[in-house]
Amino acid sequence: MMPETTGPGTVGVRIARRGAPILAVALDVPLSEQDLALAETLRGLPVWLKVGLELFTAEGPTLARRLVERRFPLFLDLKFHDIPNTVQGATRSATLLGARMTTLHVCGGEAMCRAAVAGREEGLDLRRKKAFQDRRLPESGPLLMGITVLTSDAGREEDLRAAVVERALTAKSCGLDGVVCSGREAAAVKAACGGDFLCLCPGIRFDGFAGGDDQARICTPTQAVRAGADFLVMGRPVIGTANPAEAAAAALKEMELASRTT
Ligand code: C5P
Repeated sequence: MMPETTGPGTVGVRIARRGAPILAVALDVPLSEQDLALAETLRGLPVWLKVGLELFTAEGPTLARRLVERRFPLFLDLKFHDIPNTVQGATRSATLLGARMTTLHVCGGEAMCRAAVAGREEGLDLRRKKAFQDRRLPESGPLLMGITVLTSDAGREEDLRAAVVERALTAKSCGLDGVVCSGREAAAVKAACGGDFLCLCPGIRFDGFAGGDDQARICTPTQAVRAGADFLVMGRPVIGTANPAEAAAAALKEMELASRTT
């Protein structure tokens, strides 16, 4: 276990850096009871749970709150993109909800990204006040991860990489903690922004995946880890199987092996 380090561009936000990257499992299913059962099958594995647009739109913050109450690390992936004042309020709310990580579109602009950082600070200030003290909430605010180019977008690799790096530099200059990119761009992001600037990579597929879904810029867990990813996100390859815990464990094992041999 590596020591806790302060995340880049953050004020008062501490993140636990580990030897191996972290796996976030996307709970992309619509029903809350089903989700809690699914979450419970993953208990005991060192994974974060991602609540995204499908589940949040179905259940609102209720299920996210229940996950935090049950001490699951919550990744709230709502991809904020709005006027600065609204995004500031959204990251303030995500902080009060107890999310460990949340996302916003870098193309929302610099003012919006800076407002997201300010919203987190406001949320932390509010939480320090008695009314919001709750031992179940993580002490830090959520990591703020800027979405660069969605992993479902295809195109010329060099053009996509250049666009991702440009947005990553913007995200860094605004004080975000890292970006969402494919594993194919993670090494370029690290080279441009520094090793401490975090990369979260969706579009992860096990070796042998036959293709045919909406993700375009895919990587195996090994490739993503070797490229420097700090977080991997997996939805369908885990929750779409008969045994999600087994699939998550297989991904974790592959990640661990890749990080030991990288
Ligand atoms: O099922 P799959 O593994 O493709 O799920 C990927 C998850 O990551 C989805 O919940 C999707 O919303 C999310 N995501 C993504 N690309 C981004 C940001 C988030 O695929 N750029």
